[in-house]
Amino acid sequence: MNTKNLTQPKQDIVLTGDRTTGKLHLGHYVGSLKSRVRLQHQYETYIMLADVQALTTHFNNPGLLAESVRQVALDYLSVGIDPEHATIFVQSMIPEIAELTCIYSMFVTVSSLRHNPTVKHEAQERGYEDLYYGFLGYPVSQTADITFCKATLVPAGEDQIPHIEQARRIVRRFNELYAPVLVEPQILVGERLEGLDGGSKMSKSLGNAICLDASPEDVRTQIRRAKTDPARIHKTDPGHPEVCTIYGYHCIFRKEDSGNIRERCQQGSIGCAACKAKVTEAIEEVLEPIRERRELYRHRTRDIDDILMTGTARARKAARQTMGEVREAMGIDYFTGPSAD
Ligand code: TRP
Repeated sequence: MNTKNLTQPKQDIVLTGDRTTGKLHLGHYVGSLKSRVRLQHQYETYIMLADVQALTTHFNNPGLLAESVRQVALDYLSVGIDPEHATIFVQSMIPEIAELTCIYSMFVTVSSLRHNPTVKHEAQERGYEDLYYGFLGYPVSQTADITFCKATLVPAGEDQIPHIEQARRIVRRFNELYAPVLVEPQILVGERLEGLDGGSKMSKSLGNAICLDASPEDVRTQIRRAKTDPARIHKTDPGHPEVCTIYGYHCIFRKEDSGNIRERCQQGSIGCAACKAKVTEAIEEVLEPIRERRELYRHRTRDIDDILMTGTARARKAARQTMGEVREAMGIDYFTGPSAD
């Protein structure tokens, strides 16, 4: 028996990423960016610019991708992802991800993809009827993203839970069909942030998001316009914090004081304007250091490209290694080994 694993603490490998369809917003920050900044100091960390996954919905607008890859990279650096500690890379530049996607897709059923609640929800939201093959299959490609570096921990929002479950099933199936070379990942679920309009998750495409590069004026105006409890017309009307978007923000950005806010809202002893001002201030505390770091990197486009190229080369090394193991496990490594010499 291998006792080494029993005595040594498990070392996680972290992988996560974002579709490159535009700038990131506070929802991304709360859901995943915040924990990545912490995890990068503890574990080997890979952060992926998911430009291929962006193509599943934006294949007719590749220009947007080219622009977004650098925008999202700048967002990463601005929130404090440090290229000395985390490997930031571009998905489309790792051909092994496409190879793994192809191999996994041989034993993933169409019905398991059709039943994936996140895929279903997104298809509905976008009004898709006859689904594109790549869109329906993106959880398979996401499994390739996660497994090429044998990631064990995926910090992501709760909407990604079905994808991680699917990834785990794919890993188990591969390991039982061929040989146990892949590793089952776990999700580290981040907090969910409501959009400014209430009722749905913060999302750029729904126009209800505060971008990470928003100016203080923008933030103030956006919060001022945000939806609150519709039953409150006068400042002294008793409120219902549980239906108020702004109360949700208190719970995330001013957690310690949220009980107090809840009571005062219910009693009608704090008005929405004052309540919003407090949240604005707390959000500013998050955004200000992000703005400062953005200023440091904003004009350093060559440096950003270097960071991405270096990160991609590093990720590629891990991908080649795993791909070799996968080929060997499947016996499709025809021309390697002694007989190939
Ligand atoms: N689907 C993720 C999102 O929309 C982005 C993503 C692509 C991802 N590949 C990934 C997240 C791998 C975690 C792991 O946010």
